[in-house]
Amino acid sequence: MLPRTKNIVLTGFMGTGKTAVGAELAAMTGLKAVEVDAAIEQRAGISINEIFATRGEAAFRLMEAEAISALASETGSIISTGGGAVLRDDNMEALRRGGTIVLLTASAETILERTAGHTDRPLLKVNDPLAAIKEMMESRRPHYERADLTVSTEGKAPAEVAREILKRLKWKQ
Ligand code: S3P
Repeated sequence: MLPRTKNIVLTGFMGTGKTAVGAELAAMTGLKAVEVDAAIEQRAGISINEIFATRGEAAFRLMEAEAISALASETGSIISTGGGAVLRDDNMEALRRGGTIVLLTASAETILERTAGHTDRPLLKVNDPLAAIKEMMESRRPHYERADLTVSTEGKAPAEVAREILKRLKWKQ
């Protein structure tokens, strides 16, 4: 059984539903939902889009690592990470020290559908977003596969995914 003081960390590609599932998990467990991207924006005082546009991805990754280091030291939180948080080993080590890493998955086609029309993901503002999604998913696969638990979100509502996670973690209220 997962100790109540541990964090549940949600990882996964953009559009796998980390924020929505995190909110459901928080409602079901009474734990606090925290979002790495929101923490970055709050610290920087500008949006993720603006950070990418004015400072570049490398600067964003540094800010992401700082936010993760601060959030990972908390206990009893549902931490939703950005899709690229897995790229740095130190991020994952910090998150794993205090929590269980859950990977959410969906097909590239589903991700495209879920993210279409949203303008807040700089890495998907390209001519062929489906190709970009497939390419990034493939190159990140070894990083994502280091999760403790993998849950598909395909065709499921966020609450359903959250219930499945709690069941598989043997979470008891
Ligand atoms: C990113 C995912 C985004 C955000 C940034 C970079 C990525 O978060 O952190 O745009 O590299 O996959 P979401 O996964 O919440 O969209």
